[in-house]
Order: sequence, then C-alpha cells, then structure tokens
Amino acid sequence: MTVLDPATPPCRTYLFADPASHSLSPRMHRAAFAHAGLAGDYQAVRVLPADLATAVSGLRRPDVLGANISLPHKEAVVALLDDLTPAARAIGAVNTVIHRDGRLTGDNTDAPGLFDALVEAGAAGVGDRPRDGAVVVLGAGGAARAAVYAALILLERDVYVVNRTHVRAEELAAAWAAPDADHQARARVAADVPWDDVTLVINASSAGLDAPEQTPLDAAYLTRLPLSAVVYDMVYRPAQTRLMREARAAGLRAENGLGMLAQQARLAFQTWTGCDVPVSVFLNALATPQDEAR
Ligand SMILES: NC(=O)c1ccc[n+]([C@@H]2O[C@H](COP(=O)([O-])OP(=O)(O)OC[C@H]3O[C@@H](n4cnc5c(N)ncnc54)[C@H](OP(=O)(O)O)[C@@H]3O)[C@@H](O)[C@H]2O)c1
Repeated sequence: MTVLDPATPPCRTYLFADPASHSLSPRMHRAAFAHAGLAGDYQAVRVLPADLATAVSGLRRPDVLGANISLPHKEAVVALLDDLTPAARAIGAVNTVIHRDGRLTGDNTDAPGLFDALVEAGAAGVGDRPRDGAVVVLGAGGAARAAVYAALILLERDVYVVNRTHVRAEELAAAWAAPDADHQARARVAADVPWDDVTLVINASSAGLDAPEQTPLDAAYLTRLPLSAVVYDMVYRPAQTRLMREARAAGLRAENGLGMLAQQARLAFQTWTGCDVPVSVFLNALATPQDEAR
C-alpha cells in the first residue's frame, strides 16, 4: 500500500449520504489527516439518489482520494464502480470508494470494522476462542449483511439471523447458503434460537436508534444467554440503548457501536492514505456530545 507523503497536494475525501449534514465522519477524518500530517479534507455532502452517478463520477478527479458512502446509497453505488473488493462483493454493499488513477474500487470496511471493534472489546472469545458459540444477528438490512459476513467469515461462527420481517432474514441467510461451508447462516424467529449456545448478539437493526424505549429483542431472551455472552449494539445514539440496558440487567456485557464507527473510519482512512492512524484518534474525535449522526 502506498503511503501518502505529507508534501502531497491537498487531497479530498467525501461522504455521500442523505441526510449528511449531521455526520460524525468529518470530525473523525479531519482529526486523522491532522494526526498524519497530511493536507487533506473530508466533506459530508448530501446526495439525492438521482444525483449519485454524477457525484460518483466526480471522484475520478486527480485531487480526490475517495469517499465514504452511507444510507441510502451503499447498494446503488455498486453499479457505478469499476471494481469491488472481495468483501464488498460478498456483502453486496460499499461504504468506502477508493480512487486510484481514474479507477474507482468499492470496499466495505463495516465488516472488518465490526470485527476489530469486537476484538478491541474482548467480546465473547473473539481472538482467543474464535470457534466458541454461535452469533445472533438482529436485522436484515445492509448493516446486518456486513455483520453476517463478519460472523461467518472473520469470526468463523454459525449465525442465526433474526429480523422483524422474517422473510428478509430468510433471504439474507439464503444468500450465504453453501452446504459444504464450515459455518452456516440460518434464519430463525427469536423463539427458535438455541440461546444457551449463543455467545454474541449483534444488533444490526435500526431499532433503538434515537428511540430509547425501542428494542429489537424481548428481554426474556437475554436471560437465556450464557453469562459469558456479549451484546454488541451497532446503534450508538443513545450511548446506552434499551437493549444494552436490559442485557446489563441480565448480567451480560454490552457495548455500543462507537467502536465500530471508529474502526470502519480508521480502515477507510488507511485505504485512502496508506496511514495506519491509531483508533484512539478517531474515538477521541467522537468524544464530544452525542447529538449528531453518522
Ligand atoms: N456503528 C456503526 O459503525 C454502524 C455502521 C453501519 C450501520 N450502523 C447502524 O446499523 C443500523 C442498521 O443500518 P442499515 O444500514 O442496515 O439499515 P437498513 O438497511 O434500513 O435496515 C434496517 C433494519 O432494521 C430493522 N428494524 C427497523 N426498525 C425496527 C424496529 N423498530 N424493530 C425491529 N427491527 C427494526 C429492519 O427490519 P425490517 O426488515 O422489518 O424493516 C431492517 O432489518 C442503523 O442503526 C445504523 O445506524 C452502525
């Protein structure tokens, strides 16, 4: 990977999303540029679906390193790129575009960012007992697809997908069906999950986002988990969701999604610049009042 020289002319990076104005990403990436001593900038731009192709073609300018892509464009952007990394292809969604010499490559740093956040949190044997216990993924949207990839491919665990709309959980699990694979993704309603075999629950649904009393999982199921299990909520606003509160009340460890947010940004910054800026730089940039969204 080429590491940018501090003498490089100003380099531009973007977030394309709708909405974009309250994103936390600019403060993280600007802190990273400053830490790396690079003359770079990061702008959050509101891009409507009808304008996505024009915005993406603008990334081919010589002074652009790349962009983050967020809701609602993570899947639509795939068709506008020259190439995909294996992770982005498998997940079917792109959160990071890398520009090199006029070519645009789509990557997905949500899955490895989640994995790194779980390792950092010491969650459920990640890193030392990777094959212990199954993972429950709550949700069936883009974040859930990244979570299933992280659980099946990076953690090497069996996965149960639980979603409010069950047919979407079945579609997600079916996309990973490979009878000869070491680990399987299966769709389940919560009542049919073997909870005492589960050591990690990942909330990849948007339940709880800006809704402190909303939860994707009845608290009764949390009491059926082994006490060594960890609940990882991708939601980070509020900092403690109802799911986290009820998990802690059941004696379990619970983490919010700030670690993942910082790790996916760290990995995106690394693909653009070649600089491995410590995750603490990104976390410190987030350590201001939680009144903004990604
Ligand atoms: N921490 C991070 O770095 C990070 C990164 C990516 C995403 N996220 C978070 O992950 C969440 C999901 O993002 P996404 O892109 O996957 O969104 P999405 O594609 O819109 O999917 C939303 C999912 O949440 C489910 N859902 C929504 N409201 C619900 C409720 N009240 N109860 C139960 N399930 C509900 C939906 O179920 P149905 O199928 O029934 O509609 C769907 O499965 C968001 O909160 C996002 O902020 C965090």
